Amino acid sequence: QELQLNLEQIEKGGYDHFMLKEIYEQPQVIRDTFRGRLLSDQGLIKMAGIEDNLNKFTNAKRIIIVACGTSWHAAQVAEYMIEEFARIPVEVEYASEFRYRNPIINADDVVIAISQSGETADTLAAIKLAKEKGAFVFGVCNVVGSSISRETHAGAYTHAGPEIGVASTKAFTTQITVLALIALRLAKAKGTMSQSDYLRNLIELELIPEKVQEALLENDRILEIAHIYKDAPNCLFLGRGFNFPVALEGALKLKEISYIHAEGYPAAEMKHGPIALIDENMPVIVIAPQQNHYDKVVSNIQEIKARSGKIIALVSKGDEQVKNLADHIIEMPNSTEALTSIIATIPLQLLSYHVAVLRGTNVDQPRNLAKSVTVE
Ligand code: G6P
Repeated sequence: QELQLNLEQIEKGGYDHFMLKEIYEQPQVIRDTFRGRLLSDQGLIKMAGIEDNLNKFTNAKRIIIVACGTSWHAAQVAEYMIEEFARIPVEVEYASEFRYRNPIINADDVVIAISQSGETADTLAAIKLAKEKGAFVFGVCNVVGSSISRETHAGAYTHAGPEIGVASTKAFTTQITVLALIALRLAKAKGTMSQSDYLRNLIELELIPEKVQEALLENDRILEIAHIYKDAPNCLFLGRGFNFPVALEGALKLKEISYIHAEGYPAAEMKHGPIALIDENMPVIVIAPQQNHYDKVVSNIQEIKARSGKIIALVSKGDEQVKNLADHIIEMPNSTEALTSIIATIPLQLLSYHVAVLRGTNVDQPRNLAKSVTVE
C-alpha cells in the first residue's frame, strides 16, 4: 500500500495531481510537438503526413473535422485557422452526430479526425464511414499506434506524452499546435497568406512555450480568484473569434472537475439569452486580449457590468481599459490572434483546477467521466 502511494507520488513529479503536472508540462510538450516540424529560420513547416498528401489537401473542396469533447473544441479553433489562413471551407462535427445522420461526403473532401486517446468509439465510427464514402482521412492523435491512428490514411501525432488526468489539458494545446502547423503549411501551399503574416505566425508559434510559461506565473492570482468564486452555482465563459472555442473549453473544464454548471458562449451572442442569467451572483469570465475584437469585447464587458455581473477578465499584459471595468484581471502575453488561443487556455485550466481542489472533488478522476470512451 505504502509502496503504491509512493509510486504514484513519483509519477506525479511533486505535484498534488496529475492534472496540475500536465498543465505545467505544456511549455515542454508544445515544444516537443513542433520540434523538427517548424523550421522558422527557413520559413518552412515539414510534416511527413501532410507533405505526402499535399495535393489531397490543396485540392480539397472542403475539410470536415470530426471529434468529441475537448478534441472537438480544438477542431473549432482549427476551423477558424484553416479558413483564415488557407481559405479552405471547414465544417466541424461531433463524431456522434456525423456518424448517424447520413452526412454528405464526397471523394474530394478531406476528413480530419482529432482524438487524444485515438480510441473514442464515435470518432472511430465516423472515420470508417468517411472512408467508405471515399474521403481521405487524416488523424491527429496523441497515442501512438492507437485504433484511430491505424484506421486513418495518414496523420500527425501530438507529442503531449501520456495524459492521465481525465480532464484533457496538454492534449488540447498540443492539438492546436499541430493544427496551426497544418493550417500554415496549407496556406503556404495555396498562396493564401502574405509571406510576412506567414513568417510572423511561424516565429510566434516558436515563442508559444515561453509565453505559456509566462501565463503560468499568474497561478497565485488565479488561486485567489478561485477562493472567491468556489461556491458559485453557475459560471459563464465568453470569448470571440479564436477565443470563442477557448471559452467553450474553459466552461467544459470547470464543469468536468468542479461540477459547477458552466456555459461557454460567443461574447456577442450573450445578448440572445445568457444575459438573462446575469446578476450580482454570476461570475463571468471574459477572454479579452488586445486584438481585433478588443473594442467589441470591452462593450460586452460593459453590458455585464451594467447588470452587476462579476467580471473576471483575461487581458493582455499592461491592459488598462478592461482593468478599470473588471472585478479581477488575469494577465497573459500576447501573440498573433490565432495563437493567443493557446495562451488563453492556460489560466482557464488553472482556474478550474483550483476551484475543484477547493471544493474537494476528485480532480484527476471526476465522477461519471472516463478518460477514453470506447463505447458509444
Ligand atoms: C472523454 C474525455 C475527454 C475527451 C473526450 C474525447 O470524454 O473525458 O477529456 O476530450 O473523451 O477523447 P479523445 O481521446 O477522442 O480526444
